Amino acid sequence: MAEQHIPKNTHTTPPMRVKVKILRYNPETDKKPHWETYPVEAQPSDRVLDVLNYIKWYVEPSLTFRRSCGHGICGSDAMMIAGRNRLACKALLRDVVKDGGTLTIEPIRGLKVEKDLLTDMEPFFDAYKAIMPYFINESPPPAGERLQSPEQAERMAHSSNCILCACCTTSCPIFWVNGSYLGPAAIVQAHRFIFDSRDEATNQRLNIMNQNTGVWRCRTAYNCTEACPRDIPITTIIEEVKRAVMYQQS
Ligand code: FES
Repeated sequence: MAEQHIPKNTHTTPPMRVKVKILRYNPETDKKPHWETYPVEAQPSDRVLDVLNYIKWYVEPSLTFRRSCGHGICGSDAMMIAGRNRLACKALLRDVVKDGGTLTIEPIRGLKVEKDLLTDMEPFFDAYKAIMPYFINESPPPAGERLQSPEQAERMAHSSNCILCACCTTSCPIFWVNGSYLGPAAIVQAHRFIFDSRDEATNQRLNIMNQNTGVWRCRTAYNCTEACPRDIPITTIIEEVKRAVMYQQS
């Protein structure tokens, strides 16, 4: 266990004292992951990312995790916090642990752990690439922009909010047992183009969704919807893609 280090409190709000229990793994020295606990004093309004940064900067420099923007935009700090996938930069301490309690932090599941909280994201992005995540329209462009009505734009409004953090896909029990399933995030991305009125590759993407790695693997567990830090109604989106596949077939 790391030595306790309590920084000077300069806030007016009483601090919380919590134990941060992190599932750690170093492939060079460990046969399997193990828990390590770090006592921390922090403000209730501190984010889990602040706590992890504190541990890394002042207690255990070898602690490894991914982060970049710090503001819920880049999607790089998805991890399992208090038993649920969340972004560390959006989870406030007071929302995930009680004063005096223990906060567990683990890597997201279903992807190979490279070190500590860092996972290999290649399979996740391979699934993303498989749905052709780019605009396809071979028609000559108009003089101005390719226009959409507000109603047409609304059809893809939720799915275009995805930041590819993998919170959804790595909370899906089907993905855990069958890594060939493209997963919720890839389906959300497919939805974004399938329901884009300006795109011309709808049938190609629906065919990809109709394969045995596509939408029919979904068992409507709702884990993905609960995990999404952008409040995207993922299960509803998957159902919309299933219906679009069925209409294409009929
Ligand atoms: S660090 Fe970018 S989303 Fe959290």
